[in-house]
Amino acid sequence: MFLHGTSTVNNKGHLEIGGVDTIDLATNYGTPLYVYDVALIKERAQGFIKTFDKLGVKAQVAYASKAFSSIAVFQLVEEEGLSLDVVSGGELYTAIAAGFPVERIHFHGNNKSVHEIEMALQAGIGCFVVDNFYELTLLEETCRQLQKKAKILIRITPGIEAHTHDYILTGQEDSKFGFDLQSGQADEALKLIQTFDFVELLGIHSHIGSQIFETTGFIMAAEKLFEKINDWNIKFKYTPKVVNLGGGFGIRYTSEDDPIPVSRYVEEIVAAVNVKVKEYNLEMPEIWIEPGRSLVGDAGTTLYSIGSRKEVPNVRKYVAVDGGMSDNIRPALYEAKYEAVIANRMRDENEEVVSIAGKCCESGDMLIWDLPLPKSTSDDILAVFCTGAYGYSMANNYNRIPRPAVVFVENGQAELVVKRESYEDLVKLDVPLKKVIKQK
Ligand code: LLP
Repeated sequence: MFLHGTSTVNNKGHLEIGGVDTIDLATNYGTPLYVYDVALIKERAQGFIKTFDKLGVKAQVAYASKAFSSIAVFQLVEEEGLSLDVVSGGELYTAIAAGFPVERIHFHGNNKSVHEIEMALQAGIGCFVVDNFYELTLLEETCRQLQKKAKILIRITPGIEAHTHDYILTGQEDSKFGFDLQSGQADEALKLIQTFDFVELLGIHSHIGSQIFETTGFIMAAEKLFEKINDWNIKFKYTPKVVNLGGGFGIRYTSEDDPIPVSRYVEEIVAAVNVKVKEYNLEMPEIWIEPGRSLVGDAGTTLYSIGSRKEVPNVRKYVAVDGGMSDNIRPALYEAKYEAVIANRMRDENEEVVSIAGKCCESGDMLIWDLPLPKSTSDDILAVFCTGAYGYSMANNYNRIPRPAVVFVENGQAELVVKRESYEDLVKLDVPLKKVIKQK
């Protein structure tokens, strides 16, 4: 069994995270419950930041907040010195509510609305990562109307196919994101920006995909971007101050995954950039990256109460928990794999192989297939590891199941950072039919 971060087994034979007994957490806060190991998030953040420092490279490490957005996590990453990547007005609003320094926020997205652009400009956003021609002209126009300047990066699709699930691939040419390199769109974008009065081009951005274990894809993307930069330098006398190489660094979900330490990604990316900078005789730009999953993914564990059990003789044993695709849609959406333990029987031998079913009304609502576990009974607590990224942030109310609470744990202390949704919350936005329609 692989335990992440501060996770350990205490003298009661229970799983403990951040010095807190998970069975106490389940009793005090209820289940399902997302538990975050704060020390592990800090360790990962410092892993990125310190490696750039050690290499003497000016950098920004922006937390890709889509992995898990909440006021508390924004406060935590702010204290760790990270910047923030947001992709919607909602994420921006949460960041502002958290008091996150707006000049360290980067606004992404392939279809920002006028309202979102205005909101970001009024707040004094650090920069926009512009995705397409529509947004470029809309941004210049909105800036003119508000008499505000905007700093931007333009997102480029470098034509790299990283090895990962198709749905989380983004760097290939046939992608909804960014300006394409091959067809000359990136050049056209640069020429257009050079005619603008309010928009300043800080640099370029690329993101090749997610849950990537090899550094080759990042290195190839960096090489392509620097070829373009050299070209722009010669043709348009333009050199960017910033090169953003996106996020996507892989984490260990199961024993089949073998990620490299976050420092290695940074070292290899910087080494590739150094080669290109020398080759083309350029000034070293600032290097920005935007990890999401690798900051919070394995720091998150979901606790569930085990309930019903069904055995199909000679076929399969199903063990059902009190959550499922409503709090973790990744197995249903990407066939994502997870490992889990019975948190109150950590010292018991595995005795059977079971499949963990969610409680949603859908056959596809299976969290884990064929998991070896000790014999469990109802009210045992199942802990599913590595649910910290894209778990809560993709949670939903399918079957009107309230979204779970979130607690942070560190040094023997637990702190509730997102409350459990209540049934009242679920109907809060519903508007009952008015009498007049009822009578028809
Ligand atoms: N930057 C950009 C522009 C991105 O699109 C993403 C992720 C990231 C950074 C952060 O990637 P990360 O370091 O977290 O891999 N829901 C999917 C993942 C979607 C990723 C979308 N973009 C999942 O659960 O696997």
